Amino acid sequence: MRAAQHTRESLVSGDYVMTADDFAQIAGTLKEMSGIVLSDGKVALAYSRLAKRLRLLGLASFRDYCALIDSPEGSDELQAMLAALTTNVTRFFREPHHFDTLHEITTRELAPKARAGDRVRLWSAACSNGQEPYSMAISLLSALPDAASHDVRLLATDIDPHMVEEARAGIYRNELLNPVPAQARQQFFQRFDDDHLTARTSLRELIRFNVLNLIGAWPMKHKFDVIFCRNVVIYFDEATQERIWARFAHMLQPGGYLMIGHSERVSGPAERHFDTIGLTTYQRRAA
Ligand SMILES: C[S@@+](CC[C@H](N)C(=O)[O-])C[C@H]1O[C@@H](n2cnc3c(N)ncnc32)[C@H](O)[C@@H]1O
Repeated sequence: MRAAQHTRESLVSGDYVMTADDFAQIAGTLKEMSGIVLSDGKVALAYSRLAKRLRLLGLASFRDYCALIDSPEGSDELQAMLAALTTNVTRFFREPHHFDTLHEITTRELAPKARAGDRVRLWSAACSNGQEPYSMAISLLSALPDAASHDVRLLATDIDPHMVEEARAGIYRNELLNPVPAQARQQFFQRFDDDHLTARTSLRELIRFNVLNLIGAWPMKHKFDVIFCRNVVIYFDEATQERIWARFAHMLQPGGYLMIGHSERVSGPAERHFDTIGLTTYQRRAA
């Protein structure tokens, strides 16, 4: 009886009742959809982000919200819930050492490979609103200006369709471009309106944008020379992280490179496939 009463208490004080059961259902659904773990410490965050959804939908409580996301009519709301609960923080040239390394790798290995007529593939595996893949493309083009006339492509994917849309649109507030060197800004972006710049065709044409869930199927046929997967697996549990590292090992060419976020590290059985060659930078072993 006491336990039953306990589960009806709200975990957070506010306009809506969110019980421990409601939170557990939301956290379980999010993990199943995306791999993201919503720990108990994130109750207040989940409440405040989802309370906006309840208000918009005119729902009276999180119990009603949970019933909606559990119903066949709830599929659109599941996407909205995912978007509300994920963190999309990103920046042009975030963790800049990776872009210096990409420039060096391009000069030393990828440019000769492309000029020899071979396929060169790069992947930004959680691209958010596109600042990461555009930064990668700038680094690549600075070392291989004629990349578009070779078989060179950059795949940019994210689980959130709205982020992929924004990335594809490639329109950013002027101040977001501050980390981009002035000459590259001039060369690869143009005025959209007084407050925004947009990526030029020379930058866009290298990139293919798609929705892809890292814990789902990966339909790509070819292996990659470089994978950036930064600041996303940190939200997954250890077992999920280990599976993803193993899948990256499989998807990288021998000698290919994996760049990960500042607080992440390759762990588990896949470790034996990688050499650490720099800060959060790994190289796939040949065998
Ligand atoms: C914090 S951002 C990182 C963006 C960029 N990689 C960076 O480091 O600046 C995390 C991104 O991961 C995406 N994400 C979360 N779970 C994902 C999953 N299961 N598959 C693919 N992307 C996911 C989110 O939508 C979000 O855009």
